[in-house]
Amino acid sequence: MEKTLSIVKPDGVQKHLIGEVIKRFEENGLKVVGLKMIYMDKKEAEGFYAVHRGKPFFESLTTFMSSGPAVVMVLEGKEAISKTRELMGATDPKQAKEGTLRRQYATNIERNIVHGSDAHETAAFEIKYFFNSLEMFEY
Ligand code: CMP
Repeated sequence: MEKTLSIVKPDGVQKHLIGEVIKRFEENGLKVVGLKMIYMDKKEAEGFYAVHRGKPFFESLTTFMSSGPAVVMVLEGKEAISKTRELMGATDPKQAKEGTLRRQYATNIERNIVHGSDAHETAAFEIKYFFNSLEMFEY
């Protein structure tokens, strides 16, 4: 079984999509094994998105991610990383497939309501960024 990290971003929380996002994941065989609401400050958002430091969207992205509460969760399942990404759809909602979360609910490429780790190494880093072993459960 694989684990991945997902975030209902501040725009997703403002749009009351916490339940919708979790429902979509659960209905598609992903198990929520860790879950919490957080409010990142700018430094925490910069640390989380450190791989994007230097990119043109870094400043705006980290300001947005620290603009309100978000919900972080650890998802577990068979091919959890790729399954989560498939359910979210492409980063840019204009490119996202019909029926995906971002196609349905995202405003634009930045305010795209949900995040999911893109590879094994990033999933390991991102899970550890928000969760310790006592905050994840087997059931
Ligand atoms: P996410 O999957 O959280 O990973 C990085 C985030 O940067 C991405 O979703 C978007 O919210 C944001 N972003 C803004 N502009 C771009 C861009 N041009 N390319 C990729 N990501 C972008």
